Amino acid sequence: MNNDWLDTIVAARHDATARIAVLDLVSPDDADLPEFAAGAHVDVLVDDAAGLVRQYSLCGPPHDLTHYRLAVLAETASRGGSLGMHRLREGDRLRISRPRNRFGVSDQAHRHLLVAGGIGVTPLLAMAHALQITDCDYELHYCARSRADAAFLDELERDPRVRLHFDDGPDDQRFSIAADLGPPSPDTAVYVCGPGGFMDFVISSAQEAGWPAEAIRKERFAPVQDAEVHTAGGTFTVRLAKSGGEFEVKEGESVLDVLLAGGVEAPYSCQQGICGECIVRVLAGEPDHRDDILTDRERADGMFTTCSSRALSPTLELDL
Ligand code: FES
Repeated sequence: MNNDWLDTIVAARHDATARIAVLDLVSPDDADLPEFAAGAHVDVLVDDAAGLVRQYSLCGPPHDLTHYRLAVLAETASRGGSLGMHRLREGDRLRISRPRNRFGVSDQAHRHLLVAGGIGVTPLLAMAHALQITDCDYELHYCARSRADAAFLDELERDPRVRLHFDDGPDDQRFSIAADLGPPSPDTAVYVCGPGGFMDFVISSAQEAGWPAEAIRKERFAPVQDAEVHTAGGTFTVRLAKSGGEFEVKEGESVLDVLLAGGVEAPYSCQQGICGECIVRVLAGEPDHRDDILTDRERADGMFTTCSSRALSPTLELDL
């Protein structure tokens, strides 16, 4: 983890729903926080002693740097991350990374369709703020189990470009690819964020309806596959072009684990193939891509995630 941590203070905290806590973080000296673009997330050092780091999207307006707003869902299977965040109170200190972003607003599209499932609304809320202030053409579709499970309803219901879809509501308000996305349009970008099953449904349904993969931007909170699947496969050698080092990666190990154990300062964050922080360029060899973040174009350009991807060839040379 190559973090230059920022110290922040919890300036405000409230419960948006029974399971979603909203935290406003400020700089200890009241200075503006670093700039960020809509869709960005930060690493949060939830438990310094345990080295517990989690990623949360910034959901406040990107033009307001007086504070960062996070919304944290209490996960039922939490191993301490989200529950630790829920225990925070006003005045508590929290260390975070500088914002990172691989889920930004397209500068090519003229129309933006934002599709959120549950807590996946957080980065899309920041995008809606950014698109609103620049007077862009957008719609935000927010799908939640029920009204009681939906956060930020006060501000969302004031925006006529927001559509709410509740699982327990009437059929005619449920999210529908045909009605809510419509047919593919060349100057329109679709953004999807939410739980894995929701995202898989929206993305596969949109593609079946003719939307090209390049028009669909996504951000996952969890990998599609089980982490054990990522490290299955035969032994191969990783050669580092800059340092000349060579490392053997066996079944059950990731390239990143082997590099870190060998003292290589390789970048990383989520270690699940979903944040993009560990991306490096492949200079030779055939990668076996197992991430859920690189586009086809990026893969064709030689991009590679060391935390989750492997090699199909005996040797892989990396630009490290
Ligand atoms: S560390 Fe997040 S994608 Fe590899």
